[in-house]
Amino acid sequence: MTSDRRNLNLIVLLFTFAIGVLPAVAQSNELYGSSGLGDPLYPELGNGGYDAQHYTIDLTVDMETNFITATTTIEAITLQPLSAFNLDLAGLEVTDVLVNDSVADFQRTGNELTVILAEELPTDSALTVVVQYNGVPAPVQDPGLLYRPVGWAMYESGIFVLSEPSGAMSWFPSNNHPLDKAAYTFRVTVAKPYSVAANGILMDQQDNGDTQTFIYEARDPMASYLATVNISEMVMVVDTGANGLPIRNFFPPNEAERLTEAFAPTADMIEFYESLIGPFPFETYGALVVNDGTLGGALENQTLSIFGINAVADEFVAHELAHQWFGNSVSMVTWQDIWLNEGFATYFAALWREHTQGSAAFETYMNEVYRSLQTIPPDLLIGQPPVARLLDLQIYFRGAWTLHALRLTFGDEVFFEILRAYYARFQYANASTADFVEVASTISGQDLAEFFQAWLYNPELPEIPATN
Ligand code: TRP
Ligand code: ZN
Repeated sequence: MTSDRRNLNLIVLLFTFAIGVLPAVAQSNELYGSSGLGDPLYPELGNGGYDAQHYTIDLTVDMETNFITATTTIEAITLQPLSAFNLDLAGLEVTDVLVNDSVADFQRTGNELTVILAEELPTDSALTVVVQYNGVPAPVQDPGLLYRPVGWAMYESGIFVLSEPSGAMSWFPSNNHPLDKAAYTFRVTVAKPYSVAANGILMDQQDNGDTQTFIYEARDPMASYLATVNISEMVMVVDTGANGLPIRNFFPPNEAERLTEAFAPTADMIEFYESLIGPFPFETYGALVVNDGTLGGALENQTLSIFGINAVADEFVAHELAHQWFGNSVSMVTWQDIWLNEGFATYFAALWREHTQGSAAFETYMNEVYRSLQTIPPDLLIGQPPVARLLDLQIYFRGAWTLHALRLTFGDEVFFEILRAYYARFQYANASTADFVEVASTISGQDLAEFFQAWLYNPELPEIPATN
């Protein structure tokens, strides 16, 4: 073979590579896990090809500089033969990746960390990935939440993490989509006198001299957007709920007394929701209050809801608690199912109002919500929102009214049976809107496709149905 022919062959080869192989890799070659899970709103979030079972997130945090030195270990199972796979990670510097104890090559493009395996793994293999990385976590600008960045955040008194929807990738590599839930261990080392609160149960607090290491275990399946680590000086206030459920709240020391009062109804709320739906799903619960006046809201981090200091009100306390059943135990299949989170949590907070203030107060509230919906231009399908309107208040309010309309149509007995059946079937797993419609149709004995079409997939606000 002459050298000219070799060159030509090389060019042909490169050309084939460029148009044949590369796009196939990007779209999901059979040996490459895809770079997304096909979410209609977040096509790049999550990854195909493996199922994460457990994350161990080991962080040493410098509270002066916000610099983290980190190792995240992911135990997963391959779902297909793999020669490479992706994790979602934004910013930070990756120094080493190990796969099943061997050094692996990796590449970074955008928010994808692509790990290349030395040897192809067959389906159903154990995959242990150790990612070593460091840096100052940068806030993630999320197209679904425009008013504030999500993820790891430093504030005056320390650090908090509010990730919904995509912010988990600001501080650890993961399969960043609610469809792949996993258990978590957190090991966080920080200088005294700071303390650390994370999801799950505090297993150990080790004294290393100038620093301490806090170890938390969250054993139940959890979506990445609900993972949280919070560091500040805080006090832990403990209580016990029904059936011995440990409740621990974390408050800024100077506000502990007032906040203990404000969160005192938690145990009763848990009991009330349990009577409607079923046992509290996790090993522990509690609230963490962040002493940051700019944090206007609250987020239902699993087992540890977090509240801005100005967002502590019964309405929010009841709302975030309800998410532990709806959103956290039963999680979305895609982000477009968000009304299954926000509509349910809003309605359950209204049910708490009914329980504590009576049916007149409840009806007044629901009617106010309906009237406010009537004043909004009907330009949103709450069952199919565009990403920019993911957390639009209409999803909360009309979502709650969708449930109320179902209750008015079928009466309390059938309505709560629908919710219980839906919850029992999808707890610790994922459900779509179609799954809910199917359960509601089965339990009510009616095809409810048209009912839900009107409430979720038509812009016009339906009439209030006649009471059964
Ligand atoms: N899920 C939250 C709620 O219960 C709303 C929310 C989403 C949020 N992302 C957030 C709040 C980030 C604060 C920060 O309504
Ligand atoms: Zn909510």
